[in-house]
Amino acid sequence: MLFSWTSSLRNRRLRKRNAYFGYTLRFYGPNVAAAYYILSLKGGFRYAGQTEWFRTDQRGNFSWDFINHKDSPLEEVDMSHTDINYTGLGNLEGQRSLRSLSLRGCTEVDDWFLSRLHVFQDSLEELDISHCPGITTGGLVALRNLKGLRRLDVSSLSRISTPGLVIILLEEMLPHCQITATGYDHSLAQEEEEGREQMEGQSEEDTSRAGIR
Ligand SMILES: *[C@@H]1O[C@H](CO)[C@@H](O)[C@H](O)[C@H]1NC(C)=O
Ligand SMILES: *[C@@H]1O[C@H](CO)[C@@H](O)[C@H](O)[C@H]1NC(C)=O
Repeated sequence: MLFSWTSSLRNRRLRKRNAYFGYTLRFYGPNVAAAYYILSLKGGFRYAGQTEWFRTDQRGNFSWDFINHKDSPLEEVDMSHTDINYTGLGNLEGQRSLRSLSLRGCTEVDDWFLSRLHVFQDSLEELDISHCPGITTGGLVALRNLKGLRRLDVSSLSRISTPGLVIILLEEMLPHCQITATGYDHSLAQEEEEGREQMEGQSEEDTSRAGIR
């Protein structure tokens, strides 16, 4: 997987570094491999036990110091507004100390992607999946495996049509988790009203059908 995405990098300088990295990877192991994947996608991360964040700047540069921490697992990962997808998530799967993950505004994050997050169920405490246009209500059900979650941001998910009800569902699934959900103009009262109208419409239909019969 690591090779498939590196091969797609257009920047020749980066490609040269990848070749170098393919060699060093064997010595540096999964933590550094995950770190390298994150930086290549212009994300950021913090190693466990450190305060410093490693990030890629706007020109795609990053400090190579991250390869000096091969025994440190990643604790916080910020992939917001990156192209991380289901395949790429495989590069992070060895990170069993991951406490915080931001996927805010990731266009490739979908229901299938969410179904793979259970690999972090023993460590993950904070998850931000706000502004992800690929997520539907069905996909959110997979989050019930994340029992340790303490904070979840599900703001502005454009494909969620009944946010009020979805939030109630999430609160029941994850009773110890603080859920943030802004950016929805629907209120729960409105949804209930609509639900009732639909049901009334349904029964009227039933009645008229019965009448015809
Ligand atoms: C980023 O890369 C460019 C081109 O290699 C280089 O000139 C520049 O100094 C780098 N910037 C930083 C902050 O490392
Ligand atoms: C994820 O992105 C990589 C690199 O662009 C691509 O090769 C891969 O097929 C994508 N995976 C999915 C599930 O879309």
